[in-house]
Amino acid sequence: MKNFPFINGILHAESVAVTDLMEHYGSPLYIYSRAEIESNWQQYKQAFSEHPHLICYSVKSNSNLAVLNILAKLGSGFDVVSIGELHRVISAGGDPARCVFSGVGKTVSEVQEALGIGIYCFNIESESELDRVISVAESMGVTAPISIRVNPDVDAKTHPYISTGLKENKFGVDIESALDLYSKAEKSSSLKVCGVDYHIGSQITEVSPFMDALDKALDMIRQLASEGIKIEHLDIGGGIGIDYDNTQTIDISSYIKDVINRVDGLEIIVEPGRSIVGSAGIFVTKVEYLKQNSNKSFVIVDGAMNDLLRPSLYNAHHNAIVVHESENGISETWDIVGPVCETGDFLAKDRYMTIAEGDYIALTSVGAYSFSMSSNYNTRPRAAEVMVWENNHTIVRERETIAELYKNEKVLND
Ligand code: LLP
Repeated sequence: MKNFPFINGILHAESVAVTDLMEHYGSPLYIYSRAEIESNWQQYKQAFSEHPHLICYSVKSNSNLAVLNILAKLGSGFDVVSIGELHRVISAGGDPARCVFSGVGKTVSEVQEALGIGIYCFNIESESELDRVISVAESMGVTAPISIRVNPDVDAKTHPYISTGLKENKFGVDIESALDLYSKAEKSSSLKVCGVDYHIGSQITEVSPFMDALDKALDMIRQLASEGIKIEHLDIGGGIGIDYDNTQTIDISSYIKDVINRVDGLEIIVEPGRSIVGSAGIFVTKVEYLKQNSNKSFVIVDGAMNDLLRPSLYNAHHNAIVVHESENGISETWDIVGPVCETGDFLAKDRYMTIAEGDYIALTSVGAYSFSMSSNYNTRPRAAEVMVWENNHTIVRERETIAELYKNEKVLND
């Protein structure tokens, strides 16, 4: 959040007053800081220093072309989970040869296209997927680079919806089965075994689950070596959890150094999303009404769960700050809610703040999994997105119009 300072009582994005951006682009609005994105990415880069590595930004966290382009210019690779994300990367100037393709449900056409384009590696999540990649590669007469995603069965100690490395989760294959898949893969002339991959979950704020997973993967790599299967890279999955509300989290540099110290000469791939863009975005929404019921006070804003789903879906906490406090504000403990017809439509609960109708509220640390999870529920056009750098700003996604929302729909003719 260091790139969102208060200057003369007004919240700024880098050097631009948020109030000016709201006047210019309208409400509600996602605002991103380029400097914050770049410095978050550089922290990973510096931690790896000379060790062979590939930082594959996880596109799902924020797939706006401007974000991808900023990262591509820094030399980033990308972690994609659909052919759509791969096309975004290419459109934004990213290098497909620096992309890993994850996800449990890759279709035949996705495998074909990705093979045709030429990606760095497929992260394979099941035996059926392995068979599919073999048969598509065979039919195209090409060799597919692969890793098997192992499920190391460690508790990431995060929200159950975003924990992925436990036996009961749908992701990856257990270590025993992975060994069998590696020997099958090694025998196929259409595959090139490149790596081992795991991803145990997101918003992880303690280093021990990462290290437990690493140790299990390294044991497996030693076992593979004893069977003559050579592994070139280890993909350690997503990045670290971020500070949403004075959250104590992991120090990137010491985590990566610990990893480097254990992996010998292996190239390391990391797929951070949240820790690159999370702190780089705010969502600003206008107060339409203040409503004080007998035992609850509501701030009704023009942004809603369709714009920012994390509070409704995960009970996630985002700080809510008044962009520029007005003199006639009412001090109270408020729930900040949107106009969507769902009780679950809230952006923040029980926040003490001084607020007036017409003010703007900024929800912070919403650069990740926020716009990318937005929808048109209640026929609400999605918000515009703006990128700020120093004292410059530009629109990076136009606000949707209502007509756009149903332009692909048809009425019956009779
Ligand atoms: N790699 C894989 C295979 C993943 O599934 C994910 C995230 C990442 C990398 C990036 O992880 P990160 O560095 O961002 O922790 N919508 C949820 C988060 C879902 C995460 C899904 N996978 C949220 O809003 O908290």
